Amino acid sequence: METLAAIKKRRSIRQYQPQPVEDEKVMAVLEAASCAPSAVNGQPWGFIVVRELEIRQRLSELILGAHRTVFSQASTQPVSGSELDQRMHDVYASLPQAPVYVVVCLHRKRAYVKQEFDQGAYLFDVESVAAAMENLLLAAADQGLGTCWMGAPLFAEADIKGLMGIPDDVTIFGVTPLGYPAENPGPRPRDPLPTIVHFDRWQQRAHDSSVESYDTLLGAAPQAAATPQTVEALLARGQESFTSGRLDEALGHFSAAIAADPGSASAYRDRGSVYYTKGDQKAAAQDYTRAMELQPQDSGVYYFRGLAHQAMGRLNEAVEDFTRSAALNSSQWGAYYARALVYMAQGQTYLALTDAGTVLASAAEPQLKQWAQQIKTQLGG
Ligand SMILES: Cc1cc2nc3c(=O)[nH]c(=O)nc-3n(C[C@H](O)[C@H](O)[C@H](O)COP(=O)(O)O)c2cc1C
Repeated sequence: METLAAIKKRRSIRQYQPQPVEDEKVMAVLEAASCAPSAVNGQPWGFIVVRELEIRQRLSELILGAHRTVFSQASTQPVSGSELDQRMHDVYASLPQAPVYVVVCLHRKRAYVKQEFDQGAYLFDVESVAAAMENLLLAAADQGLGTCWMGAPLFAEADIKGLMGIPDDVTIFGVTPLGYPAENPGPRPRDPLPTIVHFDRWQQRAHDSSVESYDTLLGAAPQAAATPQTVEALLARGQESFTSGRLDEALGHFSAAIAADPGSASAYRDRGSVYYTKGDQKAAAQDYTRAMELQPQDSGVYYFRGLAHQAMGRLNEAVEDFTRSAALNSSQWGAYYARALVYMAQGQTYLALTDAGTVLASAAEPQLKQWAQQIKTQLGG
């Protein structure tokens, strides 16, 4: 199997068939674990393969007990007694069936820094074992085997160490069952790439001239398939962030919506409005243009792009946009008013007065009429 395919296929499996796992497969998986990179090639790991029925049963009891502790005591969201029982039952009912457990240990065999630098080196060693653990999970997926990286057993470390005779200088890093899956769960949700990827600076979403290619790249990146609900949810989150003034967060959500559905005109339009509010008119105009390409009949987006052009001093383009907006929707009175302002700035008094007059005669919004009246007064019309 290709590496990317194994990465995408791997899931945490919590239901196992009792069928034994071939020795060669277990060894292939552990060899892959040992191929992981490690700081100074220190290889600070050790793996206990648990097959013996009695130890396995006791280990799974300890693991279940540790999970109970996590859910009921350690978690920031403790669950009620009956909920806890249900959860423990549902999720871990068949864990004891797993034919193999691998207890992954942190074994710091070689010191490679002086004592006073050991805190940093300790972290390196933890990172190294994490890399080995991930290799193990991926190699298992490659072999058609299920795993579940479990941290909860750390809450029963003393008992597990006692059960297996693990010495004091060795720490339990994690445990995984290893066996043929008896369930086939779908992918668990991941935060969309644009909410976690930054360009050049933290929180900087690409918005220069290559924005389209970034979005295309992000959209094409292997992710869980987007559903219409995902896109709707991202748009709703973006609007919420936008109206609460959290502009960078809103950009992240709208970019995520674009990555999930590059055909979403609303996502481009809304992101354009965030860029506009941030004062990045160039990026705003680019997004509005894309939204227009996707939805050419949307009069609002021409109006918005007109505002962006106006703010950039590109007055002729602004006039074109406002004209197009009014042509698509003759009740787009804001476009007449905005065009009147541009005409005024260009010294086209007659045209400005005509637009202001149209607004005064037809618009329903009192505020707009008031502004149109101000133009008339100012121009002496
Ligand atoms: C450090 C670590 C500790 C974990 N601990 C547990 C655990 O104690 N029990 C468990 O059922 N799953 C545990 N998991 C698995 C996660 O719940 C799981 O990876 C996550 O929900 C994503 O699902 P997926 O692995 O199917 O993609 C752990 C994962 C990691 C990386």
